[in-house]
Amino acid sequence: MSDAPVERLSLRRPDDWHVHLRDGHLLQAVAPLTAAVFGRAIVMPNLAPPLTTVAATQAYRERILAALPEASGFTPLMTAYLTDTIDAGELERGARQGVLTACKLYPAHATTNAAAGVTDLEALAPVLEVMESCGLPLLIHGEVTDAEVDIFDREAVFLERHLAPLLRRHPGLKVVLEHITTAEAVDFVAASGPNLAATITPHHLHLNRNALFNGGLRPDYYCLPVIKRERHRLALRAAATSGHPRYFLGTDSAPHPRHAKESACGCAGIFNSPYALESYATVFEQEGALDRLEDFASIFGPQFYGLPVNEEPVVLLRQPVEVPVRLHLADAVGGDHALVPLHAGQRLPWSREGGQQDGGARS
Ligand code: NCD
Ligand code: ZN
Repeated sequence: MSDAPVERLSLRRPDDWHVHLRDGHLLQAVAPLTAAVFGRAIVMPNLAPPLTTVAATQAYRERILAALPEASGFTPLMTAYLTDTIDAGELERGARQGVLTACKLYPAHATTNAAAGVTDLEALAPVLEVMESCGLPLLIHGEVTDAEVDIFDREAVFLERHLAPLLRRHPGLKVVLEHITTAEAVDFVAASGPNLAATITPHHLHLNRNALFNGGLRPDYYCLPVIKRERHRLALRAAATSGHPRYFLGTDSAPHPRHAKESACGCAGIFNSPYALESYATVFEQEGALDRLEDFASIFGPQFYGLPVNEEPVVLLRQPVEVPVRLHLADAVGGDHALVPLHAGQRLPWSREGGQQDGGARS
């Protein structure tokens, strides 16, 4: 066996199991970036208003497809937004018609566009029973929203207070704990049965909470659940690169225009889709686990969702790529409407063969 570093890495085309594609001009700008790399993506329903019906979800799916170049080969996997008054019959119909792949649970007010989220998880039991019986996975934003709980503890508190009882009430429900950020969440998933999995973002693998205050307040590193201490980042890196099949890729790419990030009340969300795969590859190499990247990015997600893996390849080359400091939106509204990507102005050691990562505009 040779110890020479790998120069070229061919993976089955990966999927993104958690992404925000937005709507309108933002959708036009960001959907092609996701579709250029990923074969499928679980698309979040937190639009304004949120997606709570089959008709609205189907119409959004069509707007996504219309925003893509022809022959992108990309399949958006759609989700419905659970509310206190969601119609379980609608979810069942959405599953039967093949429109819905999963449902998203936002505790009310937990994050961006979560005001219409669920206030009482126990009261949602009849809806979750319907999802259980029609095989719709539940995707959870796992944070409590109580003002008296420290924001850095909100995920860990959610696990014990809400997730453990929910899993006991619904043993047959497939659940994904989205964008985990703590060692507690890593341990919770490892200790659970085969129906619980977790997605992990590139930013939670690269950054700890110092990034938020490095030389000043850094809104580009603000997301929810908020980035935690170093020991949590290390636990997430160990989990992602462990080869455990219930941790897999979900970017949580959540674009907000610059003016919405750089304001007195900046929005939560990190935009990472243009260089997400390169970003994950960097982590896997640093952890000596490049041989496990394909499992994390392309195999474990479809396995959990019961979908086939993608056959076509994506190739990564050991050729550094400079991440632009910002990407302008496709309709050239310009100025403050630019998006700042994760790793802005930095160099990543891996690039994608044939990558058109800037959507045609950079500065
Ligand atoms: C997401 C968004 O902007 O829609 N923001 C974020 O910080 N991750 C919502 C979410 O996934 O929490
Ligand atoms: Zn998200």
